[in-house]
Amino acid sequence: MTKILVTGATGNIGRMVVDELLAAGADDVRALTVDPARAALPDGVEVARGFVGRPSTLPTAYANVDVLYLAPHLPTVVEACRMADEAGIGHIVDLAGPKGEHWQAVEDAVEACGVPYTHLEPGEFMANATLWARQIRAGDVVLDTCGDATNAPIAQEDVAAVAARVLLSPGEHVGRSCELTGPEALSRRQKVALLGEALGRELRYVDLPRDEAIEELAKDMGEHAAWYVDGAGLLIEYPQRAVPTVTEITGRPATTFLEWSRRNADLFRDQ
Ligand SMILES: NC(=O)c1ccc[n+]([C@@H]2O[C@H](COP(=O)([O-])OP(=O)(O)OC[C@H]3O[C@@H](n4cnc5c(N)ncnc54)[C@H](OP(=O)(O)O)[C@@H]3O)[C@@H](O)[C@H]2O)c1
Repeated sequence: MTKILVTGATGNIGRMVVDELLAAGADDVRALTVDPARAALPDGVEVARGFVGRPSTLPTAYANVDVLYLAPHLPTVVEACRMADEAGIGHIVDLAGPKGEHWQAVEDAVEACGVPYTHLEPGEFMANATLWARQIRAGDVVLDTCGDATNAPIAQEDVAAVAARVLLSPGEHVGRSCELTGPEALSRRQKVALLGEALGRELRYVDLPRDEAIEELAKDMGEHAAWYVDGAGLLIEYPQRAVPTVTEITGRPATTFLEWSRRNADLFRDQ
């Protein structure tokens, strides 16, 4: 029997990984969480108390584990990986992001520790569209910048589904970097139009100049607004293309942005 440990088990992705594993029939899943009582994890999961950010909790959490789902936590990732090697874990499936970006340190630490691995490299999550929720709840105009900035966002459910498949058959994915995107490349303008379609409203996308966009978006993103606005220019020059990895690994189509928008329409409605 293969024992799988899911870290960050109440995180957006981690929680879905637990559900995907159970749905696929996994019968030896341990979930790591800071507060087992609050976590309310499903029956059939062994719950362990801890956090990859607190390495002292890891020897117990790692005991007898064969395959590890590693949630990204940069401050302690080197130690968490070294300890995984010491514990005899046979495979790490790490959640990172596109190569060379903020999460590169996760992949570097995983590779340095010597445990066989599979990297999951999702680009932007569709859930980031909630950045516009306040504006859409208030009216029909969405103010942003670089409306032609294009990428292929992915639903978190699809990241979790891929993670579960890999955790269940790690041998098929050793040493692989799985670039993960949604099924279509979309500009910001197109995403806003699709959100409008899901809500049954016509939304109007308006580009603001850089400084005004930062001022507007800081209402929702705080200090990250400048990073978001300046990154948009790169997505005009180098639009992200969609890749078929989700379907290749899960055998099902990746969630479209319209499907995601319909499923999450309430986030954009005044309740
Ligand atoms: N947004 C994007 O477009 C994008 C793209 C690529 C990658 N990413 C990254 O993907 C990751 C996915 O996030 P996720 O929501 O699934 O969560 P996560 O970062 O994988 O895990 C978060 C979980 O870790 C545990 N935790 C305990 N103490 C914590 C602490 N002090 N700080 C942070 N976490 C703590 C919590 O679970 P317990 O309470 O159960 O312990 C929490 O729910 C994020 O790190 C994100 O940066 C994001």
